[in-house]
Amino acid sequence: MRIFLTPIVALAFLFAWKSAAGAFHLDIYEPRVPPELLEEIQDLDNPYPATLARIKAGREIYFGKGLCVACHGDDGRGVKLPGHPPRDFTDLKWQEIRTDGEFMWVLRNGSPGTEMPVRIGKVISEEEGWNVTHFIRTFVQSKN
Ligand code: HEC
Repeated sequence: MRIFLTPIVALAFLFAWKSAAGAFHLDIYEPRVPPELLEEIQDLDNPYPATLARIKAGREIYFGKGLCVACHGDDGRGVKLPGHPPRDFTDLKWQEIRTDGEFMWVLRNGSPGTEMPVRIGKVISEEEGWNVTHFIRTFVQSKN
């Protein structure tokens, strides 16, 4: 009996997990931050001003040691990957909905259930995270 049940239970779990992850992540405008933290995280302001020097430093992280470009592409629209597609950084609506604090949460924690990896503490520092956040904002400004 056990022998038959185990694969069925495993499959059921797999489907439940897949559909839960899918439901949460299909809509790109849904917050990635868990609901209980959302308000606090959304209110976090970037402690550094968006100076040209910081945007440039953020750009270097994006194309350099942050490895962001590998998945998010030269133009910020995202490259085709197996699994969940990377965000289109040129999407004005998405840029308006998300706060800098939410960007930072994703850089600190990754986006669970997707390929978006933890960056802060692994390959970049907190300050570099805020700088790259300034740089990501330029993907819409440069379009206008
Ligand atoms: C291995 C591929 C990969 C790398 C490397 C990567 N990302 Fe991502 N990123 C993704 C994917 C996939 C998503 C979509 C996740 C989702 O929909 O929740 C994403 C989503 C994001 C988001 C949007 C999250 C949201 O709230 O909507 C931001 C911001 C982001 N990445 C920034 C970065 C930065 C900055 C770097 C480099 C320091 C980076 N990513 C490196 C794959 C990657």
